[in-house]
Amino acid sequence: MTQAPSSTAARERDEQVANRKAYEAVIERLSKASVDKHWEPYRDIPWDDPEFLVDPADPRWELPTVDKLGGHPWYRGLPPETRAAIGLWRVATAMKIGLQFENLLKRGLLNYAYRLPNGAPEFRYVYHETIEEGHHGMMFQEFVNRTKLPVRGMPGPLSAIAQAAPLIPLISTELFFVFVLGGEDPIDHVQRKVLKDDRAHHPLEETIMRIHIAEEARHISFARHYLRNRVPRMPAHRRLLLGIASPIILGVMARIMLAPPGALIRHFKIPLSVVSEIYLRNPAARQEIRDSIGKTRELCAEIGLVNPLTRRIWRLMGIWAEPGRA
Ligand SMILES: [Fe+2]
Ligand SMILES: [Fe+2]
Repeated sequence: MTQAPSSTAARERDEQVANRKAYEAVIERLSKASVDKHWEPYRDIPWDDPEFLVDPADPRWELPTVDKLGGHPWYRGLPPETRAAIGLWRVATAMKIGLQFENLLKRGLLNYAYRLPNGAPEFRYVYHETIEEGHHGMMFQEFVNRTKLPVRGMPGPLSAIAQAAPLIPLISTELFFVFVLGGEDPIDHVQRKVLKDDRAHHPLEETIMRIHIAEEARHISFARHYLRNRVPRMPAHRRLLLGIASPIILGVMARIMLAPPGALIRHFKIPLSVVSEIYLRNPAARQEIRDSIGKTRELCAEIGLVNPLTRRIWRLMGIWAEPGRA
């Protein structure tokens, strides 16, 4: 029988051991799930099936009227093929930016794993995640190639700055996993919303999204458990720095993931007044940005990263909402 702890210190030690054990059990479960349930893009997606071929004029690519751009009179006034091409362009750009983000993420994960000691349970899981992200990169790029559209990913200067992201784990592994959630959460949010919207989707887009959502659920779970395990034990000054950096990273990342692609605006000559109406002066666009990082915001509050000072930064970045309210 386990003896009752004799002092507060002993009880705290017991709690720490119990928390550590629960955390390790989660990592083990995620690692096992990665072996039991995973997808290979060139085995599990029937790319050449006639149903799966990409036709830019396919009306299933059209943006729905509930979409901010899709519902705008300028868009609705376009010929159907142009409406479809714009919709496809947007999906392809999201995949291109997604694969660039995941490229940075993989390099960061490997930098993190490089320094892990023997026996660390995170090592195996992080390798599973890196392999899955390798598959995602291939499947996103294959999709982009099949659209034959000249989509580009992140704008050049942003892409240059982003090359620093894989080095974040060398400074702070906690900040790195906030960055991970900053990219994965908005993508996941958008993909889940698309699949729930009751429209007929192209089977290739739908298959890719379903595979991605299923595997990302594990990645997001790992990042969240990692932060829950580590942040409350950080020294106060490091936790404060993390609390300051997190809303900045999350605010920038959500905008990168949800921003209108510049190349699309130029190619289809979308009038600037329409762009500004839809994305800049639109409370629904701001709400979308806030919502897309909602789960990460709640996690940050739960693990002690939000205080009166850092809450001001969340507000400044336009991503604050009172707990329980979206
Ligand atoms: Fe991914
Ligand atoms: Fe991921």
